Amino acid sequence: MKKMMVEVPVFVYTVENHEEVKPELLRLIAETPSLSMCNEGQCIHNSDWAAGTNVRPYYEKMMEVFTPALLDLQTKLGVTNIKVSNYWFQQYKKDEWHGWHVHASSLYGMVYYVELPDGSPPTHLLVNGQTIVPDAKEGDILFFPSILFHTSPANTGVGRKTALVMNLNFK
Ligand SMILES: [Fe+2]
Repeated sequence: MKKMMVEVPVFVYTVENHEEVKPELLRLIAETPSLSMCNEGQCIHNSDWAAGTNVRPYYEKMMEVFTPALLDLQTKLGVTNIKVSNYWFQQYKKDEWHGWHVHASSLYGMVYYVELPDGSPPTHLLVNGQTIVPDAKEGDILFFPSILFHTSPANTGVGRKTALVMNLNFK
């Protein structure tokens, strides 16, 4: 089979009222049942990914923040009916990380950097064999095709990194 290299769109959306919503989101995340996940593929201090909970008090506030970004994504991609497949949060303390992986059963992934302190890396993407570091900071939402391998490198920042993550589908 022939291989052709094509460009894929990655988007960064800035949440204008980030400083206003950040404390409430962190408070609601702290109220959510969660677990630490440390194994061969990751070391994450806190996440509700595998906590087996349907209690996620941050959902409504998160969607208030995400809705304008999702509408913007719809427009940029020329699609309709973006659907949220699943969502979760991840918190990394010093030197914690998440290895290279893809998101199955999803067309786009999104990551909102609720906390990304100085020195803490954003998500790195593997594009055409090269590692790409998006120009994303705390308060930004990164959208990327879920087929792209990506990683959260070791948190070398001066504090905790917190990400709200979603898998998206659309037609
Ligand atoms: Fe991921």
